[in-house]
Amino acid sequence: MKRTQIKVTTAEAKRQADIATQLSYHIKDKNLTYFIATFGCQMNAHDSEKIEGVLELVGYAKATNENEADFIIYNTCCVRENAELKIYGKLGNLKARKKKNPNFMIALCGCMMQQDIVLDTLKQKFNFIDIIFGTYNIYKLPELLQTRLETDERVIDIWDTHDEIVEDLPSIRKHNFKSCVNIMYGCNNFCTYCIVPYVRGRERSREVSDIIDEVKHLVADGVKEIMFLGQNVNSYGKNLTTPTTFASLLTQVAKIEGLERIRFMTSHPKDLSDELIEVMASTDKICKSLHLPFQAGSTAVLKKMNRGYTKEQYLELVNKIKVAMPNIALTTDIIVGFPSETDEDFKDTLEIVKVVKYVSAFTFIYSKRTGTPAATMEQQVDEATIKIRFNQLLDVLNPISAQYMQAQVDKEFIILLEEVSKNDNNILSGRTDTGTLVHVQADPKDIGEFVKVRITNAKTHYLNAELVNEKELGV
Ligand code: 5AD
Ligand code: SF4
Repeated sequence: MKRTQIKVTTAEAKRQADIATQLSYHIKDKNLTYFIATFGCQMNAHDSEKIEGVLELVGYAKATNENEADFIIYNTCCVRENAELKIYGKLGNLKARKKKNPNFMIALCGCMMQQDIVLDTLKQKFNFIDIIFGTYNIYKLPELLQTRLETDERVIDIWDTHDEIVEDLPSIRKHNFKSCVNIMYGCNNFCTYCIVPYVRGRERSREVSDIIDEVKHLVADGVKEIMFLGQNVNSYGKNLTTPTTFASLLTQVAKIEGLERIRFMTSHPKDLSDELIEVMASTDKICKSLHLPFQAGSTAVLKKMNRGYTKEQYLELVNKIKVAMPNIALTTDIIVGFPSETDEDFKDTLEIVKVVKYVSAFTFIYSKRTGTPAATMEQQVDEATIKIRFNQLLDVLNPISAQYMQAQVDKEFIILLEEVSKNDNNILSGRTDTGTLVHVQADPKDIGEFVKVRITNAKTHYLNAELVNEKELGV
């Protein structure tokens, strides 16, 4: 049954926490473990942190790997068809485990669940799934779990709209010193290829005071870097009772003492204001990196995509940003093979890449999403043509990216040390304020600290560096 999300009061949040505590009396004794596999964007990754928070409250411990877990949760994505197919493949492999382990449970959540066609498939072909919930009711997980455990029946709870934003979920942070913070949910842009507005709903901004409170709490807890998340952060605040701007939010948050770095994504070019450029350029704490998807170079294609800007307007915007911040690191998203895209249109995409010189780019092959306007457009581009264009795009992007990495050699940066490198225990990895990954030999006890490094050489996806001084705190 689909329902509308109601306003979740503090009393409701407390009720869920109480259910979680009750459940924990039963679950802790059993030493059960969970594993969450997250697909898709940062928004999903952050939702998974909230789910982890709830599960730990309920008494599950984190499993070391998927094969050992008693409870598997797939937080799904439906932006492209491949991500969906992956989920169906994984589910097929799980059925046998239910027979072997009486405590074994499977939950599915995230964007894919918000589509009727997916729910129908799951009901018909995968009726062994225990809990299915959507993007609007994560906070209800303790209650859904309780219902499943008490009734022994599978629980499907998907809501198709929303009224209010749910605040105050317990959340487990991956790092002590950095954290993501949602500033808004949903999207109103309806780019014609994109399913997000249908599965994440209309744009809702959180109140400035709620965001500032959350950041202050995080900073008091040791967080030095935050990443603001929203599908289109540049339209933040427009729908609040007292409207405000993203630039104004950033200015206020930058004043929080102890917070050292602010990142954000994603920016929609049509809503990026001069005020934001000014605030970014004049505020040291705001990292000089900007993810600015252009999707396609041709103005005709952009129009069919409903992106709200022309090729010339995009390039003009980039120029303004570069004049204000010459060291800005720009990244982007590009779609190849949108319906009706001709070779001429595609040349415009290559031209933008050459002119802007992105540090890196996410490149996507257009994926037809049922229910979006583009899915029924005529002139879908054939696969062979898309492949040729996709490879041409990489051939242009890769040398530009390599050139950028090479140009960083001998430069000095302050990096935030984040973790021990996956391949070498003596090496730590961190990021520059421009977002580039850096490897450096350093003491693991300094993870979470800012250090000054000099770049010694460049690899494709990271830079090698040496420490300059012992330790330099502060940015
Ligand atoms: N096909 C291919 N790429 C898509 N994206 C969104 N929808 C689709 C689709 N149907 C890409 C866009 C967006 C990124 C998150 O995913 O480039 O910016
Ligand atoms: Fe999708 Fe466009 Fe919204 Fe981004 S701005 S989430 S691409 S509809």
